This record gives sequence, C-alpha cells and structure tokens, in this order.
Amino acid sequence: MQYPETKLPHVGTTIFTQMSALAQAHQAINLSQGFPDFDGPEALLARVDHYIRQGANQYAPMTGMPTLCAAIAAKVERCYGRSLDAAAEVTVTSGATEALFAAISAVVRPGDEVIVFDPAYDSYDPAISLNGGCAVHLQLQPPGFAINWDTVAQAITPKTRMIILNTPHNPTGQTLSAADMQALQALVAGTDILLLADEVYEHIVFDGAEHQSINRYPALAERSFVVSSFGKTYHTTGWKIGYCVAPAPLSAELRKVHQYLTFSTSTPLQLALADYLTTDPAHDQALPAFYQAKRDRFNARMAQSRFSFTPAAGTYFQVMDYSAISDLPDTEFVLWLIEHAGVAAIPLSVFCQQPPEMKLIRFCFAKHETTLDQAAEQLCKI
Ligand SMILES: Cc1ncc(COP(=O)(O)O)c(C=O)c1O
Repeated sequence: MQYPETKLPHVGTTIFTQMSALAQAHQAINLSQGFPDFDGPEALLARVDHYIRQGANQYAPMTGMPTLCAAIAAKVERCYGRSLDAAAEVTVTSGATEALFAAISAVVRPGDEVIVFDPAYDSYDPAISLNGGCAVHLQLQPPGFAINWDTVAQAITPKTRMIILNTPHNPTGQTLSAADMQALQALVAGTDILLLADEVYEHIVFDGAEHQSINRYPALAERSFVVSSFGKTYHTTGWKIGYCVAPAPLSAELRKVHQYLTFSTSTPLQLALADYLTTDPAHDQALPAFYQAKRDRFNARMAQSRFSFTPAAGTYFQVMDYSAISDLPDTEFVLWLIEHAGVAAIPLSVFCQQPPEMKLIRFCFAKHETTLDQAAEQLCKI
C-alpha cells in the first residue's frame, strides 16, 4: 500500500523532546524544556486526591465544570476588570495547546492568512497549515524583539483572518506594553481581523510591571480568543488544563471543534482547580515574586559567566547571548553545551522561519535553587 504524503512536511519531533532526551542521555542539567522541577501547591494536590476518592471520575461537561468556569470568570474580573458570562464565554480545554488548536480550527479557512511573530511558539504554524491557512511570519529583531506595528500594517491584506500574539513571550521573555496594545487596537479597528492571544505566562511578569492582557481592552477583547494554562500558574504542566475566554459567538465556534477534539477535560483536576482558585487567589499574585527570585538568583550567578543578557521581563525563560564564547550556530552550540557544560538549553533559531543573525539560547529557570546554582556554576566554567 502507498501511504499518503505527509500533511505536515516541515514538522518533526519538537526541539523540546529532542533536547530533553539528549539531556537525559548525557545526564545534563535540563534547562531546556519549560517545566518546573518542583510540585504544585500541596493543598491543590490534596483536592485532586479528594475528588478522585470521592468518585468524581466520569466525563465533565463539554465546556468545563461550571465551578471552574465561574472561578476563571471571577479571576479575569479581579485581575483585568473584564466581566464575563462564565457559561457562554469560558471554555476549559486540555491545555492551552488544545485551546490554540481549537481557536485556529474554528475560524481559519483555506486561503486565509494568519500573522505570526517569530520567534513563535511551535504549535501555531501546524494548526494554521492543517486548516489550509497560510502563516505570515513576521520576524522580531533581537535584542529587544519588539513588534514593529508599521510592519504589521504592511503585512495585512484582505485575506488576513487572524493575528496571533503571545505575551509574556516564549522564548524571548519579552512582554507587550500598553502602547503595543493601543497600536494594535488602532490597527484592527474597523476590520474583521480576529486575535488569538496566548497568555499562558500571564501571572509571570517581573519588576512590578502589569500584564497587558487583551482582557483589559474591550475593543480588542470583542474580537479575541484569550488563552491561558493552569500548568504554568500552578506548576502542573503535566495536567494539561487550560482555558479560552472569548465572546459568545467565538466561543460557540471554538466549542464545536473542542467537542470533537477532546470533548471534555479531566473532571477531578477541574474540580480541584476550581476549589483552589477560589480559596487561594493569592497564589497567582505571589507568582511574580516567586519567579523573579529565581530569575535574579540565576542571573546573578550567570553575571560571572561569558554569556551576556538582559533580564527577562516575564515567563520563566532567560535568553542569553553566547557570542563571546562560540561562533557555532545556536543549534550546534546547544549540543556543544550539553557535552562541555552538562547543561541543556534551547536554540532560538528553531522558533523562526528565517532566523536573523543571532547567537541566542534560552534557559528555563523554573527549577530548584540548587539546580540553578549547579547549572550556573557549570556554565561559568566555559
Ligand atoms: C507560549 C506557550 N503557549 C502554549 C503552551 C502550551 O501550554 P499547555 O501545556 O497548557 O498546553 C506553552 C507551553 O510551554 C507555551 O510556552
């Protein structure tokens, strides 16, 4: 038999899987893939146990447990002042990944263009292609990786269906400002362009800054899918629980896809998160200080190394420039680094369709202090 031609010729195993496997093979410290090496809050874990033992083990409602949808709506109102109809505008998904895929699949048609900013998180492009759309990649320039809104304006055509934003931004650790949001607002006013805002690191912003969520801007929110993930906020990336907030007509379309993609998401985990969100809203407020301490500890030690860097403004990723150490391309440098420093990192070029000249790699600092100290000590030796 002849198997069909691949629908995703440019997709292989993700760089995260590759680097994590290499880190394990070399027994290197894994600062590549973005996950904590510590657990979620004990009280949250106890609630999962409680609900599993209590028998809350059957299908959840398709759109999410009502208690969790209500807790999400309350959080969005508390953090960003946006009032939501939890039943019609909040959908719980199997991670942010599913929400992103469902949102793109719900609205992108063959021939549509979707503007994506590189470096871009790797799940956007395949979702656009599978739906027959065309990703229009706009390269953000190092070192600041700011969006040039004039370039965006030039890239908009009658075929532009959607713009995908990610703030705080993986992999660069940059954030969008209020001025960015205003520029975006002016750009899309009077058009039918939709927005997909990937805000999974919404609670990890540093130095006293406020996260500029789409939820703060009614004129943007009315045309947006806003996606977040409990994995990032509660140190539970393996649970894969995320959500999407969107106006009722957009949510209705997203749910048509979600209904047949996964139908619903883990019941006991949703119930536990609903309880925890309600009883401990302080968790997300404490997150900036929690991660800023890790960023600062790692960076203080790395200041003694030959890497150069500007502290991340958000996320749990720190980008570092290795041009004082090596001329190797970043994809080769990370392999060299595993062997010579025993530390795994992620090269930035893999997030770009046409990478600019840069010598940048990304370290994940969502790790125990001892892990960060050991990694920095090894990195200072090269
Ligand atoms: C920018 C970005 N979006 C989406 C995701 C996926 O989130 P989830 O694990 O909830 O699917 C990640 C995870 O690393 C991410 O960094």
